[in-house]
Amino acid sequence: MFYITTAIDYVNGAPHIGHAYEKVLADVIARYQRLRGEEVYYLTGVDQYGQKVQQTAEKEGVNPATFVKRNTKLFQNLWLKLGLQNDGWAATTDERHRTCVQAILSDLNEKGQLYKKAYKGFYSVRQEQFLTDRDRNEAGEFGPEWGQVEERDEENWYFRLSDHAEWLKEFTAKQTDFVIPGFRRNELLGALANSGEMDLCISRPKERLRWGIEFPFDPDFVTYVWFDALINYISFAGYGKKEGSDLPDFKKLWPCAAHVIGKDILVPAHGIYWPCMLHAMGFSDGEMPKILVHGWWNMKGEKMSKSLGNVVDPDALADKFGVDALRYYLVRDITTGKDADFDLDRLVMLYNQELANELGNLCNRALNMTARFANGIVTTTSEIGEDEQKLRASLETVTAEYRAAMDAFDIAEGLKAINRQVTYCNAYAERNKPWELAKDPALKGRLDAVLYHLVESLAHCAVLLSPVLPDPAERIAAQLRMDDLLKLKLDDLKWGLVAEGHETGKPKPVFPRIVIEEEAS
Ligand code: ME8
Ligand code: MG
Repeated sequence: MFYITTAIDYVNGAPHIGHAYEKVLADVIARYQRLRGEEVYYLTGVDQYGQKVQQTAEKEGVNPATFVKRNTKLFQNLWLKLGLQNDGWAATTDERHRTCVQAILSDLNEKGQLYKKAYKGFYSVRQEQFLTDRDRNEAGEFGPEWGQVEERDEENWYFRLSDHAEWLKEFTAKQTDFVIPGFRRNELLGALANSGEMDLCISRPKERLRWGIEFPFDPDFVTYVWFDALINYISFAGYGKKEGSDLPDFKKLWPCAAHVIGKDILVPAHGIYWPCMLHAMGFSDGEMPKILVHGWWNMKGEKMSKSLGNVVDPDALADKFGVDALRYYLVRDITTGKDADFDLDRLVMLYNQELANELGNLCNRALNMTARFANGIVTTTSEIGEDEQKLRASLETVTAEYRAAMDAFDIAEGLKAINRQVTYCNAYAERNKPWELAKDPALKGRLDAVLYHLVESLAHCAVLLSPVLPDPAERIAAQLRMDDLLKLKLDDLKWGLVAEGHETGKPKPVFPRIVIEEEAS
């Protein structure tokens, strides 16, 4: 079992490229795990409560429920368009989530993990949190990153985060794969070493924030947005579900939980609040999830932001360049964990070069020449020479490299491994010139061998590519006339997928070249 979740996106606007990246990355990981033969549950969704949403809705003159419904549709439509194969959908206004959050609040309160107190301090409206002196910059001020900061004096509910600080330090130190990659875990360790033992304010008075989940034992308050949002990972996995609920079996899913999140929400939300919340609820060390942290897409080295006006709209990109080009670029031009620059020229270049030219060429060649020179019939009992042995060895190496990269969530390296085999095959074809072999009937054995090795390689490459590009993989399988090809698991990828006498189909372009306007005119 493999239970994978993403961050749930704030729906105070339309989805941006960062949202699309994270959802596609998790989708690729989920599909790869299915290819490995794992049973997978992929959960993604939307974060619908909070002050930001309430404020944006107010500005637009609609009630927050209408506002989030409308924006949630934008996310759902985009995920459908991008082909996400998610099993669950976490929307925090879902009744099933609310009852779970409220049950947890009551439980924590009964356990003495919550208390109410008055507090006077500075509050960042943008970050929706109280600030401390640690948050001041060298000049002793709250910097512009906090947005509008106001002084507040109010009563609120607190979670005894400090009760769990020592446990978390020890746990993070010993559990080396709690946070992946390692340098992000070090970041968390650093933050824990410097952290004061502060409790966490988890409520907002209703007069200030109406748009949230009500405290079941104190209806003048709603929950702090992070406290509610983090719980989605368990509420939608069936934690404490009601009888007859169609939510999954929590006991089955939870031991294999991995959260895919961006670098900005590791400290403190996922690295500190969340494990401490779980610990307070009674989860043991063995029941802590893994956290997989990805980096950010930037624009020319700068952060993408609405105020800089450099935000990329994934929906428009998918329409302009196609879903395949977008999915491919999102995981091909970034190393999982690190940041990268989003560059449309590179999106077009990588698609045209690696897919339209190289892989497209291999598909076209293998099928076209088999049709023309062998009536579409693959002959496997053929003359195998040194060049064929080398091609098979290359495929074996590439498959192992792909596997190692994908197991380490390094999708870009996985794709580069596939591309090495594709390039190898194209060079092999150039070298062995089937179009020349076809001229001499005495060389029929050699011709069959070359065609067979191209077709067999193509079948393997389609399977390896399928987590990133499921539709093109289907198109290749259909042209190969191998209907069950994509039912194969990774361990089934041994030489000999194509049967003796198999008849392949006609080639149709799988990756039409992207021609950008400037080029066309
Ligand atoms: O933080 N590149 O929501 P969010 C890559 N609701 N990833 C990016 C990105 C970029 N340029 N910009 C944002 C929230 N992200 C909370 C999460 S989870 C219980 C609640 C990622 O809409 C970001 O790192 O601000 C985060 O993982 C996700 O998009 C949602 O961000
Ligand atoms: Mg954010």
